[in-house]
Amino acid sequence: MYSKIIGTGSYLPSKALTNYDLEKIVDTSHDWIFSRSGIVQRHIAAEGELTSDLAMYASRKAIEAAGISVDEIDLVIVATTSPDHLFPSTACVLQDKLGIKNRGPAFDIQAVCGGFIYALNTADMYIRAGQSKVVLVVGAEVLSRMLDWNDRTTCVLFGDGAGAVVLRASDTPGIVASKLHADGSHRDMLKAEGNIRNGEIDGDPFIKMDGQAVFKFAVKVLSEVVEEVLEENNLSGSDISWLVPHQANIRIIEATAKKLGLGMDNVVVTVANHGNTSAASIPLALDAAVRDGRVKAGQNILLEAVGGGFTWGAVLIKW
Ligand code: ACO
Repeated sequence: MYSKIIGTGSYLPSKALTNYDLEKIVDTSHDWIFSRSGIVQRHIAAEGELTSDLAMYASRKAIEAAGISVDEIDLVIVATTSPDHLFPSTACVLQDKLGIKNRGPAFDIQAVCGGFIYALNTADMYIRAGQSKVVLVVGAEVLSRMLDWNDRTTCVLFGDGAGAVVLRASDTPGIVASKLHADGSHRDMLKAEGNIRNGEIDGDPFIKMDGQAVFKFAVKVLSEVVEEVLEENNLSGSDISWLVPHQANIRIIEATAKKLGLGMDNVVVTVANHGNTSAASIPLALDAAVRDGRVKAGQNILLEAVGGGFTWGAVLIKW
């Protein structure tokens, strides 16, 4: 039994904040941001627009593309690090907003920027185990509310958005392989450690990052995990039609592609348009490449991501 992606969808809030707009907020420049990260603009959720709303818009598009009715979805997984509430989970809220009435399970996964890879792997395990037949997997974030807009080292990098895929059980591939890793000893390199305790915020709620350390760690572990997945499946970089990486930073993407021996012509890059949207970035990029026809039946597609925790992983798909 395999899991096959039968529909993709994505959503970006209408407000785009360009690097030039940011020049008016913090001491930065378009040239600095673009040369360091490849980012041109990021999208910012409207006041009152929640992670579950972004997830709902992306999901509706994926469901429409899949040509299914919502009640066929027997599992909802949302990868997010910026949930609507401490609880209920954003997945439960999304299930209700989509009108799914079948009482199938719904839960969130928290693996920061690695979240979509973790969620896809989990969905695949449910399908392979015969527990689920049609799974909605969503990456959705409103990171703009977790940013210190006075901290130029972080606020220029992140944005809001959502992407979704519908997976269906199939006797042909599908997801061929996936690998997950975590190493909590590096948790201080990237964190938002505040929490609510006794009704008050305890600790710093904003994203803090040691950019250079994250950069080095990301390039190392992403190269390792993509090689691990390829080796185990007797493939090399030249067998990959499209690398769809987590869209954090163009230099990390280029370094990983180089290690794989892949030219940038085989890499899906959308980071310029939306910045780092954490768990949403892979399904945003995948949806773009599916809808414009780059991704075609029979191709090998490799997804990879790394995020705070640290978590990282890769998923190999025969489209
Ligand atoms: N605008 C202008 N100058 C800035 C800005 C800014 N927004 N931010 C920092 N600077 C300054 C610094 O203060 C420093 O000034 P100084 O030399 O006078 O001290 C100078 O620019 C260089 O700073 P560095 O931190 O050395 O810049 P670097 O070239 O390392 O680029 C960056 C920083 C873009 C954060 C880089 O380290 C990076 O890409 N790291 C990876 C971060 C990432 O992608 N995180 C995402 C989350 S995890 C994940 O998704 C993989």
